[in-house]
Amino acid sequence: MKNSTTIGFIGAGNMAYAIISGLINNGMPAKQIKLSDTNEALLFLRKEAFNLEVFTDNIELAKRCDVIVLAVKPQILSTVCHQIADAIKPNTLVVSIAAGVRVGDINHWLGGNASIVRTMPNTPALLNQGVTGLFAGEFVNELQKELASDILNSVGQSLWVEEEKMLDAVTALSGSGPAYFFLMIESMSKAGVALGLDEKTAQSLSIQTALGASMMANATTDSIAALRKQVTSPNGTTQAAIASFQQQNFESIVAQAMRAAFDRADELGTELGHND
Ligand SMILES: NC(=O)c1ccc[n+]([C@@H]2O[C@H](COP(=O)([O-])OP(=O)(O)OC[C@H]3O[C@@H](n4cnc5c(N)ncnc54)[C@H](OP(=O)(O)O)[C@@H]3O)[C@@H](O)[C@H]2O)c1
Repeated sequence: MKNSTTIGFIGAGNMAYAIISGLINNGMPAKQIKLSDTNEALLFLRKEAFNLEVFTDNIELAKRCDVIVLAVKPQILSTVCHQIADAIKPNTLVVSIAAGVRVGDINHWLGGNASIVRTMPNTPALLNQGVTGLFAGEFVNELQKELASDILNSVGQSLWVEEEKMLDAVTALSGSGPAYFFLMIESMSKAGVALGLDEKTAQSLSIQTALGASMMANATTDSIAALRKQVTSPNGTTQAAIASFQQQNFESIVAQAMRAAFDRADELGTELGHND
C-alpha cells in the first residue's frame, strides 16, 4: 500500500473497528485513515482509540479518500451510496463489506462507473482470525485488487472469487460458518453434561478440542480425511462415534444446511438490490 493512500471507513461499528485495528497494527499511520458515522458518541470513542480524523458527514469523508470502505448495515447501503456518489474522486476504490449487496446495485447507486470490490468477511476478523472472500467489479484494476487484499488481510486471510455468485458460496461456508462451529461446541457441551460432566468442564473441553483440531487441520500436510482416519482406531471409541454420525448422514445434513444458506444469500441479494 502506498504511504500516501488515504482510506475512509463509512460506518464505525464492529467490523470497521476490527479492520482499522488490523491496519494500524500492521503499521499503517492513523493519519491515513478517516472514519464517518452518524453516531457521534461512537465516533468520539474511535477517535480516542486510534487518534484518527472523524466526520459525521459521509460526503466530507468521501471527498478526502482514495479508498472508501462501506461498513454500514446492508439495508442502508443504498442511502449512503446515493449520498456520496457525486463526492467520490475519480479512480476511488470502493470496498463493500456489506453482506449480500451486489456489485451491480452498488455501482448503480454510485452513478455507474465505480471501481468496486465486494467482500464477505467473517466474525473471527474481530480477533484477526478472519477469512474474507473478495470479488472485483469490472472497473477494478490490478493495483486496486492488491489494495483491497491488503486491507482485508489485516484481519486474517483473504481469497478472490472469479464469479460474484461464488460470494454466496463463501457466505454459506465461511461467512455463516462460525455459527456452525458454535452449534457443534454447544451440542458437544450439552452431550458432555448428559454423560455426567459439569457444564463448565464440558464447555472447556469442547472449546479446546475445537481449537486443537483446527490447529491440527491447519498444520497437516495430509488430507483432512487422512487426519481423521489417523485418530480413528479400528473398533475404538472414535470409530463408534463417527459410525453413528455417518448412519445419520452427517455429510448430507451439513450440505443441506449450507445449501439453505446459499439460497438465502441469493434471496437477500435480490431483496437488498431493490432498495433504491
Ligand atoms: N459483524 C460481522 O461479523 C460481519 C461479518 C461480515 C460482514 N459484515 C458486514 O459489515 C457491515 C458492518 O457490520 P457491523 O457489525 O460493523 O455493523 P454495526 O456495528 O452496526 O456498524 C454500522 C455503523 O454504521 C452506522 N451508521 C448507520 N447509518 C449510517 C449512515 N447513514 N452513515 C454512516 N454510518 C451509519 C451505525 O450507527 P447506528 O448504530 O447508530 O445505526 C453503526 O455505528 C454490515 O454490512 C455487515 O453486513 C459484518
